[in-house]
Amino acid sequence: SQIKEVEFVKSSSRAKDCPKDNRPEFAILGRSNVGKSSLINALVRKKEVALTSKKPGKTQLINHFLVNKSWYIVDLPGYGFLEEVGLILRLTATVLLSFLWLFARAPDSAKTDWSSFTKGYFLNRETLVAVLLLIDASVPPQRIDLDCANWLGRNNIPMTFVFTKCDKMKASKGKRPDENIKDFQELIRENYRQHPPWIMTSSVTGLGRDELLLHMSQLRNY
Ligand code: GTP
Ligand code: MG
Repeated sequence: SQIKEVEFVKSSSRAKDCPKDNRPEFAILGRSNVGKSSLINALVRKKEVALTSKKPGKTQLINHFLVNKSWYIVDLPGYGFLEEVGLILRLTATVLLSFLWLFARAPDSAKTDWSSFTKGYFLNRETLVAVLLLIDASVPPQRIDLDCANWLGRNNIPMTFVFTKCDKMKASKGKRPDENIKDFQELIRENYRQHPPWIMTSSVTGLGRDELLLHMSQLRNY
């Protein structure tokens, strides 16, 4: 299950433009700053793989990395806030607006973004083996993460919870990572007949790296 070789393939703005070679893929999704790029780099044991897709001035939404010439890791921009001023709406905003639309009846534009992009990718990407939903274990459960997990769950999109930053010591008043994880799982319990698989990771200590690679290889061969 080790990673021997990774190459950046392409950035796509729509599901339609993604690679069409039918190789299995895993999408990395999570809030901005949750540690997506760090996790990819830790898995791959290279410092700058996940950064190589960042070409300024281009809209990049879905970044495909081919691993061992046989499967894809897909880096999606973080949701939570717009990272670059003037950039047209990326998945970040789309996911946000989508939730607004779903839960608070946002205007039609959000609806359009939702159906054309987010929905397009998650619901129509047939080669998607699972979404790795990254959740920061160093902070208490966040509404947007819970909403995201619940949306994926309701739509039967297979997912694995990957808790990041498990190396972080608790802030003076905060809870420990394992306590935050327990709280998160408690909060989504009622939405799942079976709790999705979950893994504790740290890209600082390497915790969970081998477990995650093994997990992904099992899902691919399933
Ligand atoms: P966007 O690309 O903006 O969506 O962020 P991202 O999800 O790719 O996060 P990134 O990997 O850039 O990490 C954000 C910050 O968290 C950086 O300062 C990292 O050094 C830090 N970080 C990421 N993973 C870990 C971890 O496992 N432990 C600790 N302590 N810090 C981490
Ligand atoms: Mg990143």
